[in-house]
Amino acid sequence: MIETIKKHIAEVQAFSSTNKEEIENFRIKYLGKKGLLNDFFAEFKNVPNEQKKEFGQVINTLKNAAQEKVDSLKDAIESNSESKGVYGDLSRPGEVVPLGSRHPISIVKNKIIDIFLRIGFNVSEGPEIEDDWHNFTALNLPEYHPARDMQDTFFIQTNPDVLLRTHTSSVQVRYMEDNKPPIRTISPGRVYRNEAISARSHCFFHQVEGLYVDKGVSFADLKQTLQYFTTEMFGKSKIRLRPSYFPFTEPSAEVDVYWGLETEADYRITKGTGWLEIGGCGMVDPNVLKNCGIDAEEYSGFAFGVGIDRIAMLLHQIPDIRMFSENDVRFLEQFKSVL
Ligand code: DAH
Repeated sequence: MIETIKKHIAEVQAFSSTNKEEIENFRIKYLGKKGLLNDFFAEFKNVPNEQKKEFGQVINTLKNAAQEKVDSLKDAIESNSESKGVYGDLSRPGEVVPLGSRHPISIVKNKIIDIFLRIGFNVSEGPEIEDDWHNFTALNLPEYHPARDMQDTFFIQTNPDVLLRTHTSSVQVRYMEDNKPPIRTISPGRVYRNEAISARSHCFFHQVEGLYVDKGVSFADLKQTLQYFTTEMFGKSKIRLRPSYFPFTEPSAEVDVYWGLETEADYRITKGTGWLEIGGCGMVDPNVLKNCGIDAEEYSGFAFGVGIDRIAMLLHQIPDIRMFSENDVRFLEQFKSVL
């Protein structure tokens, strides 16, 4: 009996195949329920005691040899099929690449930049931590001027000369100080005001400043530029310039776009008037030109300031300005499809 088993061991060790079916038959022959090994194990009780030890050893050797053979032949088949193509198994599911999304403020800012780049404006930037000169004094807002109260300023520590800019108009000043006319620039950026935080106002928000300085620039140029902007931005070309006051422009106006009153949301957004205020504008006050080293006799210019947050809320139906800065991915993820 032991001799027979030893023969089988030799047979098992010699066995080789790359055929799945043959390997399976081999497995069944030795390791299957009705396989040879079970027969040999059943025989164990009939083996004389003095042979039991050796008998036990040889069937174990046979069992291990058969199992190892089956495993190694199956492995060989698998690794062979994997190396068939350079890319391996093409039916495997791909690995997910997590996609980010642009912030709605950036989406709107980029859209505004895009519109003005098309008519020859460039983009300029300035610091968010400003000095009194660029944020106020150069813009025709000298110390103790009551209009400074219009903007609740955050001062840095106890130095009243260092503050968080309250508007992007400060970049106008910097740009005019550093560049000669003709000037056509827009300056997007974040601004800060010490205001009570609510669904409609925050202590920081975003503006785009526009500045055009050249010979013979008129109010008609300003209106035409704003009209082009609102048409491109909202698809609405009807605008209204309401007389207003800003220290840095003369005359000054508030810009309204006719939004319409077709839906309930239109009523809510425009407070039932159909008109939507998007910013301020005017002809650059000659004092401002002078403060920035530009000859006010030779040159004139217009400027405007538009709030980005309000426009983003409008275009994307965002009910609360605080959502922009809460960093809630459930909110941010919704802008994945917008570029
Ligand atoms: N700086 C103004 C504000 O923050 C907006 C503004 C109004 C900017 C008129 C301008 C302008 O350039 O001409 O409220």
